[in-house]
Amino acid sequence: MKPIILIDKPFPPAHQAWLADHATIFLASTAKQAELNTVQGLFWYGHDLISSSLLNSTPNLLAVSNFGAGYEHIDVPECINRRLQVGHTPDCLSECVADYAFAMLLASARDVVEGVKRCEHPSFTQFNANDLGKQVSGATIGIVGMGSIGSQVARRANFGFGMTVLYHNRNQKSPEAEASCGNATFSPSLQDLLSKSDFVVLTAPVTPETTNLMSAAQFAAMKPDSILINIGRGLLVDTPALVAALHKFPSMRCVLDVTEPEPLPRDHILVKPQGTPLEGRVIITPHAGSATSETRLDMLKMAFDNLLAGINGKRMVSE
Ligand code: 8YV
Repeated sequence: MKPIILIDKPFPPAHQAWLADHATIFLASTAKQAELNTVQGLFWYGHDLISSSLLNSTPNLLAVSNFGAGYEHIDVPECINRRLQVGHTPDCLSECVADYAFAMLLASARDVVEGVKRCEHPSFTQFNANDLGKQVSGATIGIVGMGSIGSQVARRANFGFGMTVLYHNRNQKSPEAEASCGNATFSPSLQDLLSKSDFVVLTAPVTPETTNLMSAAQFAAMKPDSILINIGRGLLVDTPALVAALHKFPSMRCVLDVTEPEPLPRDHILVKPQGTPLEGRVIITPHAGSATSETRLDMLKMAFDNLLAGINGKRMVSE
């Protein structure tokens, strides 16, 4: 018998079709209480809170499966209290997210977005000799959070671009792991890493210790012409302090795939920097780090394996 699952959003058609072959699906926004009563698993695409009232409305629930690595929107202790297994999809998306981190880094360093706008302008004639970007090859990258994604960023940085890799993490990695992560050097001090890095990439998960990890003192420690790349979570960055730093250091830039709140208000200066000193120095992308057909299918299958294990009382592949 197919498992009965509740989803928060429809998946892209090919993935939704795969899911429909394997499960009976109800959509949270339209499911009737009689349907909710039959639901065995939550299969969660987005980052919307899995609230107590949602858990109360699904009395026969056995498992919660998150389509994604980060699960800060799920009250795990509450789920455990209710004897629900909770799974997520780490690792299978790390290379894809690391690819995207580099797309963001390169786009900012080499002014790709502004360059496209210039080429599209009706009065464009030729490259302006003053529009010089920032060199990536051979530069120093500081990675904050050296988990599976951070490690893949490090490999690309060193093996692909000859960059010097520094990392700040809860724990230092073994010498073998450091070597395989682009000869990365551990920086026990975040401030020290920030002061030496041309590019700072945030990949850490959100915890009480990492919330607002990047605030006024950290921006002040960064090289004034460095670029901040956030592919972790918006909460890692104190957004008002970031805006203040971008005003204070006119050569500093940022690229954010995640923001707090997400999305930012439509009139926020980071969204609409046009006509302000921040113009041309901010790129915001729509939390797209893991968004390729291949990786999303891998995530779907991993999340589904977790779900089946949880429903059948077995240990999840990734809990
Ligand atoms: C999302 C992510 O899961 O894995 C994560 O933690 O943030 C993403 O891959 C994806 O955007 C679907 O919500």
